[in-house]
Amino acid sequence: MNFYEDKETAQQFIEFLESPNGVIQKQILLETLEPHLPRATNSKILDAACGTGWLAGKLSKTYPSLEAFDSSSALIDHARKEFPNINFQILDAGNTLPYADNTFDTVVLSMASHDLENQPKSFANLFRILKPEGTLIVTLANPYYSFPVGMWKRGIFRALLGKKPRLKLRPYNFFRNLQDRAFRWNSRLTSRFYPLSEQINNLLGAGFALTHMEDLVSRTDSPAFNATYQLHRFPTILLLKFKKPLE
Ligand SMILES: C[S@@+](CC[C@H](N)C(=O)[O-])C[C@H]1O[C@@H](n2cnc3c(N)ncnc32)[C@H](O)[C@@H]1O
Repeated sequence: MNFYEDKETAQQFIEFLESPNGVIQKQILLETLEPHLPRATNSKILDAACGTGWLAGKLSKTYPSLEAFDSSSALIDHARKEFPNINFQILDAGNTLPYADNTFDTVVLSMASHDLENQPKSFANLFRILKPEGTLIVTLANPYYSFPVGMWKRGIFRALLGKKPRLKLRPYNFFRNLQDRAFRWNSRLTSRFYPLSEQINNLLGAGFALTHMEDLVSRTDSPAFNATYQLHRFPTILLLKFKKPLE
């Protein structure tokens, strides 16, 4: 099951993306992704698990033939209203996808790998529709530092002294054993926890070759406690780049 199929969860996610921290996260994601995208503007790009379609909306300005899908109908409804010129489909990455073999030059899977219920099947499906020598770009919450392992906390004394929260780590290995991998971000938003090694091994198992790995970092700091402040200190988001090898 995809938790974002629940309307409340979808709404919560839409609100996050529109919040100041969501805006910062989108900006840093876009800046980090852009240098890895193809030069040719007629390249076929797929935004897999596209959510609200914000990234598809940005990329379609450069790549007009971009396509996108997500299995949450609430999020796709939102995306279609916002970007009526993009071909959005409601599809589950774990099911057979209605694209021909070797269709896309680049597949982007942004901040969604950790939400997939069945990573091996989903990655095999994305592998099939990517062209040989094509690129898969995955951005993901860095499980070593981001929630639920990492929690920004400030005790009562730090609060009284007007200091900012600090990142505290909870036992990573505890989260490996979660039932259904599910954990709650808050009362309305549920996600999954996959160890980083498992995600990379699932991608390699699907046939992809890892070609590049990058920490998302905010070069500037912020006087306020926000996503800029957090990303200036810890790589809470990672970018992984894979190639589909020639047979
Ligand atoms: C954290 S959101 C990221 C959305 C978007 N890529 C972004 O960067 O804003 C995770 C997305 O994965 C989608 N998702 C989860 N499981 C899926 C599946 N099996 N097939 C398609 N989409 C899925 C959810 O609906 C949600 O939109």
